Amino acid sequence: MMLALRRACIFRALVFMAFLPPPQCAQDPAMVHYIYQRFQVLEVGCDNMLMGIKSLKIVKKTMDTDGSWMKDAVSDSAKVYVFIGSRNNTVWEFANIRAFMEDSIKPAPRKLILTHSWQGTGQVIYKGFLFFHSQGTLNEIIKYNLQKRIVEDRMLLFGGAGRALAYQHSPSTYIDLAVDEHGLWAIHSGPGIHGHLVLTKIEPDTLGVEHSWDTPCRSQDAEASFLLCGVLYVVYSSGGQGAHRITCVYDPLGTIIEENLPNLFFPRRPRSHSMIHYNPRDKQLYAWNDGNQIIYKLQTKRKQPLQ
Ligand SMILES: *[C@@H]1O[C@H](CO)[C@@H](O)[C@H](O)[C@H]1NC(C)=O
Repeated sequence: MMLALRRACIFRALVFMAFLPPPQCAQDPAMVHYIYQRFQVLEVGCDNMLMGIKSLKIVKKTMDTDGSWMKDAVSDSAKVYVFIGSRNNTVWEFANIRAFMEDSIKPAPRKLILTHSWQGTGQVIYKGFLFFHSQGTLNEIIKYNLQKRIVEDRMLLFGGAGRALAYQHSPSTYIDLAVDEHGLWAIHSGPGIHGHLVLTKIEPDTLGVEHSWDTPCRSQDAEASFLLCGVLYVVYSSGGQGAHRITCVYDPLGTIIEENLPNLFFPRRPRSHSMIHYNPRDKQLYAWNDGNQIIYKLQTKRKQPLQ
């Protein structure tokens, strides 16, 4: 029923677009809706919003304060990838999560040495390709073919990317990448000191920029962010300690109203997170905190349909 209504709405929008020029202001909800339709950013069928963090599981404890870890966000692969530190040309590939958790379980991890080094904790694995901020560059994102061990493609991200840290409490991440049900995104700080975050939708096959949004979410006191169903959730902690809490949520479509949001607290952790990434395949968060690799399970509910 709701799907049918939405189809009708999209149909009407398309008819409307055929006869009228698009609205002019990019932050205007009508314009954003137009962009979503035009570039098919929004898939029908993803309408969950975050209601809370249900549980925390420490998967492994290491000594490394900084790093990131993940599974492929799209492909049906059991492999776990680990990036230790804040810049390197090495990636560790584990056969599955059990092999990652217990060192005694065979096979031993594979050490992949890349032709280029990554920087920060913003890496993602999307359909067997590794996307990362190339070390020593201001704003270059490399799409790396892990099978062939070659650079598949590269792009430059504009709008101030690379000039300042994305999050004040994550000292090496200038460009954070994210994957959700809608695809690939980049998050970075906009122009200015402690600026606001800029969200960019990237087409993973061509590395073209679909659209970019200036969000109201600040870099100051932020430690990480992630996207879920097309909505950006930014995690803050005062001074990098104390409670980790999502206090800024940005929905380019404007369907989520801040007043409807519950208190989104994370369980107390000793430090700020080095990274928090959502995996749309298993619908949980992969995080790194004080050397611990953590999975957060989520509680979600359906968004209100767009009027
Ligand atoms: C890169 O990673 C390797 C293997 O994990 C480590 O031995 C080396 O110290 C790292 N290099 C830097 C610059 O962190």
